[in-house]
Amino acid sequence: MSDAIADGGALSALLQETRKFPPPDGFAAKAVAGPEIYAEAAADPVAWWAEQAKGLQWETPWDQVLDWDVPFARWFVGGRLNASVNCVDRHVAAGHGDRVAFHWVGEPEGDTRTITYDDLLEMVSKAANALVELGVQAEDRVAIYLPMIPEAVVAMLACARLGAPHSVIFGGFSAEALAGRILDLDARVVITADGGFRRGAPSGLKVNVDEALEQCPAVRTVLVVRRTGQDVGWQDGRDLWWHEVVDRQSPSHTPEAFDAEQPLYIMYTSGTTAKPKGILHTTGGYLTHVATTHRLVFDVKPDQDIFWTAADVGWVTGHSYIVYGPLANGTTSIMYEGLPDAGGRDRWWRIVEEYKVSILYTAPTTIRTLMKWGEEHLAKHDLSSLRLLGSVGEPINPEAWMWYRTNVGGGRCPIVDTWWQTETGGIMITPLPGVTTTKPGAAVTPFPGIGVDIVDNDGVSVGNGQGGYLLLTDPWPGMLRGIWGDPERYRDTYWSRFEGKYFAGDGAKRDDDGDLWLLGRIDDVMNVSGHRISTTEIEHALVGHPAVVEAAVVGASDPTTGQAVVAFVTVKGEGVDGEAGKALVDDLRAHVAKVIGPIAKPRQILLSPELPKTRSGKIMRRLLRDVAEHRDLGDVTTLLDPTVVNMIDTQMRESGGTDEEG
Ligand code: WTA
Repeated sequence: MSDAIADGGALSALLQETRKFPPPDGFAAKAVAGPEIYAEAAADPVAWWAEQAKGLQWETPWDQVLDWDVPFARWFVGGRLNASVNCVDRHVAAGHGDRVAFHWVGEPEGDTRTITYDDLLEMVSKAANALVELGVQAEDRVAIYLPMIPEAVVAMLACARLGAPHSVIFGGFSAEALAGRILDLDARVVITADGGFRRGAPSGLKVNVDEALEQCPAVRTVLVVRRTGQDVGWQDGRDLWWHEVVDRQSPSHTPEAFDAEQPLYIMYTSGTTAKPKGILHTTGGYLTHVATTHRLVFDVKPDQDIFWTAADVGWVTGHSYIVYGPLANGTTSIMYEGLPDAGGRDRWWRIVEEYKVSILYTAPTTIRTLMKWGEEHLAKHDLSSLRLLGSVGEPINPEAWMWYRTNVGGGRCPIVDTWWQTETGGIMITPLPGVTTTKPGAAVTPFPGIGVDIVDNDGVSVGNGQGGYLLLTDPWPGMLRGIWGDPERYRDTYWSRFEGKYFAGDGAKRDDDGDLWLLGRIDDVMNVSGHRISTTEIEHALVGHPAVVEAAVVGASDPTTGQAVVAFVTVKGEGVDGEAGKALVDDLRAHVAKVIGPIAKPRQILLSPELPKTRSGKIMRRLLRDVAEHRDLGDVTTLLDPTVVNMIDTQMRESGGTDEEG
């Protein structure tokens, strides 16, 4: 365990001056979630979750709430339901068909769509009928590679309606990354678009699919949404336009109920090895978890609130809090296609003002970017509709928290800092608005019904004021059910380090009040702009380049993106400097973008004749991180050749360390 984790890092100092914000009135009416909710849930968590599950529409009730054979859980055993019915049909049946499900805002100015629950039912039914026509059956995996357009949600719900697990792949992944996932899934159908918009310029998606499918001969159908109107390659017999196939379908589709454990989706995420893990989520428990957390953490009033999760559906945050949670609760959401500064740095605030957004949920990296752009962009707009703010994806630094509270929340909105993971399916550690006293930078307390512990290397709980490994001690309904196709890896990765407990890979501590603070990853996973990226995966990509002998990648702390990717690379032959070196660095960055995607491009690459290694030949990553962050190097005598480090360190300082690129 690193010293920084063990002593809680710089946090101790910060905690001294921590401010506390008591819960304001007007939230979480006692009947919904008073303080007693914690005691109730703690008394019998499994029964408490069962009570929450009754909020869903079940075709057949379960006969056992939980079957727990560590580490394999089945929730709501014997129960049957349909996820799509729970997100759409039942709200229409309850008379809310004219309620808006999504105010969709496209990146180009004025390009908007309003989709009611009636509209959504028709769209999902048609898409489900189309998928049936294309031969999709329950259990078939469908890959979805779409921009932030309503068809992404429709495609997901249409798959769910048929019991066919979807796997949404973020549009920022490359053709190669896409191919790897399609092959791992053995998907036969891919849903994509001609492209998407990124700061006004159309970007290609279909072109990546075409390239990926050269490696995936089993894919028989590609359904293509026309979004940008750009020219695309076409393979007759395989490629079909969405509007030609979906629009002509019947607007009604009779759904079938599936087992509570029917696979709902697979979401790939980076681990500590080069191969991404397909995280499997199933239906009944997941929906219970996301609907309950969405309702209580965001104090949602479905007939009043305008809820905005500013994330991409290509990540788990989008799955749980743009799609499944909000729709299960019959909420009205904003879905925004573009970047925060598309059409001006006040774009978000225009959206808040125009749609009277009441709840905003985003990532610290975005908050820091908005902070950098300055308050003048907010000052021009009426943000008084906001009543609650959320944060997710990485530790939020107290300065960003305070800025968010003061400038976005007008000093009146509580902030919920929510800790969770792709694997957990939904929020696990968070304040409850109106119930919890918050502190800038703390996620404070486990959600009701969630068991958390912080332990040392030996698995012994540490006391208040000390840092350690974050564990989840009890099964929870939204938990991953496994890694697609690899049950052993599931057990090894999460359940073997501390027998029978879920090992999250994060450091955490409790302060003297017993409140929880998250301290970041303790493994080789980086968190760059709220995106999880594996150091090993990037190293693997770099050594795949013909000029590279060896590569070490570290996450260096960065004031805006949280962490930034820094790579140390040794090259073949004499080593390169000057213009040739620059050209090679550019080429290596492009190479990483091609193999994984632009999100994984190193901020900085250092070419080095050697990498610092211990006597046993292990690359000293901690030391490289220190070099990347210009920290004092301390004792380097266990290294094979200390001069290597000193040389790298000098090179790093000379290069300034922040040759950022947009
Ligand atoms: C980090 C995103 C501190 C953490 C939902 C976790 C956080 C990883 C927080 C999961 C938070 C997420 N405070 N750290 N509020 N939320 N993290 O799978 O390191 O993309 O393990 O899920 O993000 O990232 P993932």
